[in-house]
Amino acid sequence: MLRSVLVVNPKGGAGKTTLAVNLAAGLAYAGEGVCLWDLDRQHSALQWLARRPDHLPPIARLDQRDQAPREASWLVLDSPAALHGKRLQEMLKQAHKVLVPIQPSLFDIAASGAFLRELREDQALSRRKAIGVIGMRVDPRTRAATQLANFLREHDVPLVGWLRDTQLYPNAAFQGESIFDLPPYLAEREVAMWEPILAWVRNG
Ligand SMILES: Nc1ncnc2c1ncn2[C@@H]1O[C@H](COP(=O)(O)OP(=O)(O)OP(=O)(O)O)[C@@H](O)[C@H]1O
Ligand SMILES: [Mg+2]
Repeated sequence: MLRSVLVVNPKGGAGKTTLAVNLAAGLAYAGEGVCLWDLDRQHSALQWLARRPDHLPPIARLDQRDQAPREASWLVLDSPAALHGKRLQEMLKQAHKVLVPIQPSLFDIAASGAFLRELREDQALSRRKAIGVIGMRVDPRTRAATQLANFLREHDVPLVGWLRDTQLYPNAAFQGESIFDLPPYLAEREVAMWEPILAWVRNG
């Protein structure tokens, strides 16, 4: 069965594409068939995919849902900024899991409240507890991280994991690489941060 993970946050630059391409790669490393669908007209995820070297675990490009290869287990969807309303609802209907990257700044947190409420109006997703947040570009030990955790508790949305602020992400992306493609001496700590994220995505 093809399971889809929608990466979404209407705020521009929240970290959607970074999260989506690394998630796709993390799943591909487990030997699972992964497709990546770039819904954004900026095509950042597709640019990354086009640069991806052939020797790395493959990720298939998808442009239409019914084109997914039979052996594919995962579809990761990278969404554009400002995705709201009807189009968002359509995307949510197709998603098994929804991941929302949020940077723990006052402005990002404030901008996310209404969106999380909009997401939670999707009864099916809420019932399945299929909506999760990733704290983006943050050290989990900081005050900013605590602020984000408190905010999410109020909204009753789980904080699935954290990704730290590191140049490893943009540097890897230039090569069409993910954090999982880097040598362990560089990326071991970052890869460990992905364990709870991959577990949450796979669970259910
Ligand atoms: N964990 C991280 N550490 C360092 N830099 C990061 C991290 N996550 C994202 N970035 C950088 O932040 C910028 C915005 O990230 P990204 O493009 O993934 O956001 P986006 O939500 O997809 O943006 P858009 O709304 O324009 O599609 C990029 O330059 C990216 O390299
Ligand atoms: Mg993007």
